[in-house]
Amino acid sequence: MRITMITGAVLLVMAAAAARAETPVERGAYLVGSILTCNNCHTPRGPNGPQFDKLLSGGDVFDTPGFTVSASNITPDKEAGIGAWSDDEIKQTLRTGIRPNGIPLAPVMPTIFYGAFSEADLSAVVAYLRSVPANPNKVPSPVYRASFPHVPYPGAEKPMADSGTPAERGRYLATIGHCMDCHTPMVRGVQDFATKAGVGGREFSGPFGKSISANITSDPEKGIGKLTDAQIKTAITQGIAPDGHRLLPPMGYAYYAKMTPADLDALVAWLRTLPPNS
Ligand code: HEC
Ligand code: HEC
Repeated sequence: MRITMITGAVLLVMAAAAARAETPVERGAYLVGSILTCNNCHTPRGPNGPQFDKLLSGGDVFDTPGFTVSASNITPDKEAGIGAWSDDEIKQTLRTGIRPNGIPLAPVMPTIFYGAFSEADLSAVVAYLRSVPANPNKVPSPVYRASFPHVPYPGAEKPMADSGTPAERGRYLATIGHCMDCHTPMVRGVQDFATKAGVGGREFSGPFGKSISANITSDPEKGIGKLTDAQIKTAITQGIAPDGHRLLPPMGYAYYAKMTPADLDALVAWLRTLPPNS
């Protein structure tokens, strides 16, 4: 009895120490490896999925009428990656969509959402990027055939509070996690966030074939209003729909599976607040 109590107390102390000890690099690793899904574009894919031995060394090619770009090498390599950029330059690029050399990033890089980052989380992401192995992989130069306005996602004009009710915390996570990037239909090349946020209907194609993003509003018929929390979590983290069929890429299900239970609860609480729309 006595021994059990002592052990319990020691474990509690250890748990408290572990909670206190989350360093910026650890926080950045958690965010990048889960809700942010940076690897989903920036880590090259092999036949068996993402090649984590080539972490963040450059990945997917996006070919659209406006641009042909490869997801950049964002490792600390000084030539091929972003090792020569200062912390502030990396942060500015993520928040504004404009590189230190003045050249804007193609909007497939979801910078219109990244103004929402809290200062602490953005610093954590940068600290983590600095900590990954430098990789000399050179990606092809981007080709631009259009110019891109950088219009922040509503609410992402400035840092958003990462606090409050679960739904409010979920809104922060969903914003830096750019859920609405894929789940909002495009009108003349930009998402219609004002009237169609969450309605889905965007088409994606890749080696997996063709997928169409789902309506994630609380619409009971077209959206996810009738799904239970458990069904929504299974869809997000395992890529399995309520009827059991496997959901297609590019949604990064395996990354969302790494979210803490509290963060996943918060995300679902936020989804429930989306007014029915179709
Ligand atoms: C949907 C795909 C996608 C996601 C998700 C994504 N990126 Fe990108 N990113 C790109 C593409 C594509 C480019 C290159 C755009 C261009 O060349 O115009 C890019 C460019 C960048 C650059 C500029 C590098 C340079 O050398 O110019 C940085 C830094 C960057 N991304 C960091 C990140 C981080 C950090 C995350 C996660 C928080 C992330 N990206 C998430 C697709 C993505
Ligand atoms: C890169 C694009 C992309 C991003 C980012 C993305 N999704 Fe998805 N999502 C999709 C696509 C495409 C589907 C449909 C896949 C299919 O039908 O096979 C989908 C399906 C879903 C479903 C299943 C709905 C149903 O009725 O079965 C949910 C729930 C969902 N997404 C929520 C989210 C949330 C929450 C986020 C942010 C954390 C998010 N998605 C980010 C593309 C994306």
